[in-house]
Amino acid sequence: MSFSFGRLFRISVFGESHGLGVGVVVDGCPAGLNIDESCIQAELDRRKAKNSEASTQRREGDRVRILSGVFNGTTTGSPICMFVFNEDVRSDYYELIRFRPRPGHADYVAHVKYGGFNDFRGGGTFSGRITVGMVAAGAVALKLLSRYGIKVVAHTVNIGGIWAENHELNNVDHLEKLIEVSPVGCADLKASNEMLELIRKASELGETVGGVAEVIAVNVPPGVGEPLFDTLEGDLAKAFFAIPGVKGVEFGVGFKAASMFGSQYNDQFSVINGKVVTNSNNSGGIQGGISNGMPIVCRVAFRPPASIKIPQKTVDLRNYQEVELMLSGRFDTCIIPRALPVLRSMAAVVLTDHLMISQKIPRVLK
Ligand SMILES: Cc1cc2nc3c(=O)[nH]c(=O)nc-3n(C[C@H](O)[C@H](O)[C@H](O)COP(=O)(O)O)c2cc1C
Repeated sequence: MSFSFGRLFRISVFGESHGLGVGVVVDGCPAGLNIDESCIQAELDRRKAKNSEASTQRREGDRVRILSGVFNGTTTGSPICMFVFNEDVRSDYYELIRFRPRPGHADYVAHVKYGGFNDFRGGGTFSGRITVGMVAAGAVALKLLSRYGIKVVAHTVNIGGIWAENHELNNVDHLEKLIEVSPVGCADLKASNEMLELIRKASELGETVGGVAEVIAVNVPPGVGEPLFDTLEGDLAKAFFAIPGVKGVEFGVGFKAASMFGSQYNDQFSVINGKVVTNSNNSGGIQGGISNGMPIVCRVAFRPPASIKIPQKTVDLRNYQEVELMLSGRFDTCIIPRALPVLRSMAAVVLTDHLMISQKIPRVLK
């Protein structure tokens, strides 16, 4: 079992959906970074359940406490422990699924793997709540990256088959402003309205919907990534697959590359202002597992959440009888809007780790 990730900038997330709380320990953060609870809180607030159509009715304050590693508003170089108490806990709903696993969720595999000792309430450690720790760690990483002009943005490009129109990848500031006004984090406001309507309809039917988010990181210097097994692509994909509900990750044009000619796919080089750039970005800013200085672009597919309010077949694990399961409780109709800050955070954690490995970020900031 491993809830830790990263080599030099290493995060360990912990907690359960209906336990005392959730959090993270960030080990290896350079000393000398100015942070306080308010900058962590701002990121956590982005992750909170907001509009009732897409998100759970569970309302958490998610008020973060920094327990260690920060002194006089500056990181000390010691492990930073951040903790959030669970407040809006209603575990009674979950007695139903203790021995009757939700199809599509991790209830069954967790029961098998941990011999029934797992905390099943709200999916325990397999709940989306584990991502609070990821976002708190990401807030530290994002603050660190901003010193180097690196910015990471995540936005919605598809919900339930409704695709957003293309956008300008280099203008992430504009993209960020558009995302802020969309309840589903989509920069194409027409598509955003249609997505919201679909989520509303799905919710009325007791259904859930999936989608695709895009993550963009700009101003990452060329030369970051550790082939052969610790490539930038490999580590980003691993980090994204740790987010519950992720089912696919692709970089640049991704799977479409398989249908292109070499002449269409190759990103040809030019020089602009004395800097080597590529005229297209089909490889998503990574070649041979190493950043090439262009925006890093990847798309992440989320499945529809497992918790639907429609009768389903399951098995009672006490007597192996096939039974019907009808859920009640508070669930997200679509994960994507709440996952955007999580994706941004995990991308920031990976980039920080790799920039430290490449010695582009020192252990003590000046
Ligand atoms: C922010 C967030 C919120 C989530 N909310 C729900 C939810 O309300 N209901 C649900 O069934 N799954 C939800 N999930 C997804 C499950 O945690 C996930 O599907 C489950 O752990 C099984 O993992 P897998 O889908 O990656 O196989 C959420 C995930 C995230 C990241």
